[in-house]
Amino acid sequence: MKFSSKFAELPSLESACLAVGVFDGGKLTEPARMLDQASRGQLAGLVKSGAFTGRLGQSLMLFQISGVAAERVLLVGLGKQDEFTLRTYRKAVHACVQALLDGGVKHAALTLGMLNVPHTDAYARARHAVECAADAAYRFEQCKSRPEKPKPMLHEISLLVSGRDERGAAERGIRHGSAIAEGVALAKDLGNLPPNICTPGYLANEARKLGRGTKLKVTVLEEAHMKKLGMGALLAVSSGSSQPAKLIIMEYRGGPKNAKPQVLVGKGITFDSGGISIKPTAAMDEMKFDMCGAASVFGALKAAMRMQLKLNLVGIVPTSENLPDGKAVKPADIVRTMSGLTVEILNTDAEGRLILCDALTYAQRFKPAAIVDMATLTGACVIALGNVVSGLFGNDETLVKELWNAGEQADDRAWHMPLYDDYQDGLKSNFADFANVAGREGGAITAACYLSRFTKNMRWAHLDIAGTAWKSGAEKGATGRPVPLLVQYLLDRA
Ligand code: BES
Ligand code: MN
Ligand code: ZN
Repeated sequence: MKFSSKFAELPSLESACLAVGVFDGGKLTEPARMLDQASRGQLAGLVKSGAFTGRLGQSLMLFQISGVAAERVLLVGLGKQDEFTLRTYRKAVHACVQALLDGGVKHAALTLGMLNVPHTDAYARARHAVECAADAAYRFEQCKSRPEKPKPMLHEISLLVSGRDERGAAERGIRHGSAIAEGVALAKDLGNLPPNICTPGYLANEARKLGRGTKLKVTVLEEAHMKKLGMGALLAVSSGSSQPAKLIIMEYRGGPKNAKPQVLVGKGITFDSGGISIKPTAAMDEMKFDMCGAASVFGALKAAMRMQLKLNLVGIVPTSENLPDGKAVKPADIVRTMSGLTVEILNTDAEGRLILCDALTYAQRFKPAAIVDMATLTGACVIALGNVVSGLFGNDETLVKELWNAGEQADDRAWHMPLYDDYQDGLKSNFADFANVAGREGGAITAACYLSRFTKNMRWAHLDIAGTAWKSGAEKGATGRPVPLLVQYLLDRA
């Protein structure tokens, strides 16, 4: 899909379809009012008849509106005007593009970006429009022998702006939006792939692919190397799998040579059966999404490279399967982590923190400006926060604020969760330095507590994306979150 910005007289604009917004209660937006005037009240009449109320998500395709040059006009519901926010703007754009796709439109012009959306400018409105359009048009049909949904015919979208002076900002928004959309699509694709294809080795090859022809330096450490480094926790997880674990390191140097890098670490469990502490059968298939943290590292790096961000960035992905086997790690096994600390593995299903702790220790060699890990870490986080926000933890208040802010701006929200020392007690072990699990209560927090023991002298934050990285049910699929949050965070630092 191609995007461009445009400043034009609306009634005389030649387009296959011109989309205009209507607020709940039938209040026409300014662009809609201009078309209404040109058509001598056709739109207002339609709204008055009750055929279109302006409810958020509603859309209505109109043909041959007199006085309007565009072949079709699409009315888009925006919801209540006094509740119009970035969030509802994005929902409206999504519904709009969905209707354009359903209507088989090839070229469309959108006027929603001309509206006043609180806390946005022309840049942000264009960027979010591109992100949402790409989201609506996303398909994952690589594994179907013939495509189910028709191929998107929508090739070109013009984003209208209110003044000539807004075009520069809108064009920049389009560039950034396209880069983010590419990163999100990559994260979705990797997440959606079946676990027999998307193995640790596959992810390693994806990293090499991402690096090809770019200045991204990709290194893949094999198990022998991990053993030398003393990564006993990571290796314990992979011991039950015939797929060897990999530690993928991707270095992007876009900033000054000596500038400390931002380091992103992503959990890459390509399938989590629970191991010997095996999971129940129901929805176990969804544990192919247990590498979505890793996928978000790939996605954020891809977007950062597309944007040529002027900063140094390192992506680290520990990746493994978690399976039961004669060689698998058992409850009560004690391993030594790369940090030197020993861990009693009381539950083999708490494997994410085991692969992450060694990756976090390894990350220290890059002398990070900050380190952020993303992980589908706990079911408890889904219980606490549902599927709306990601859990946000950290040992540095500024860093946590920066990430929270990025989530708001990117409409990819996270919510700050506590990490008080009192929660650490649950990890006590009678036999090792500590255990890998605490009790059922506050499970997302005690998981973060476990990670915090490996990041003592670094600015560190952790995003538990167990509830946000994919959708279940009829719309089952990866969301690409938290790529938008991460890219916003990086943009703000570059
Ligand atoms: N990958 C899971 C977390 C998960 C479960 C995410 C369900 C989304 C939906 C993780 O490895 C896990 O199994 N965590 C355990 C931790 C427990 C054993 C302390 C959990 O949440 O049950
Ligand atoms: Mn698990
Ligand atoms: Zn897991």
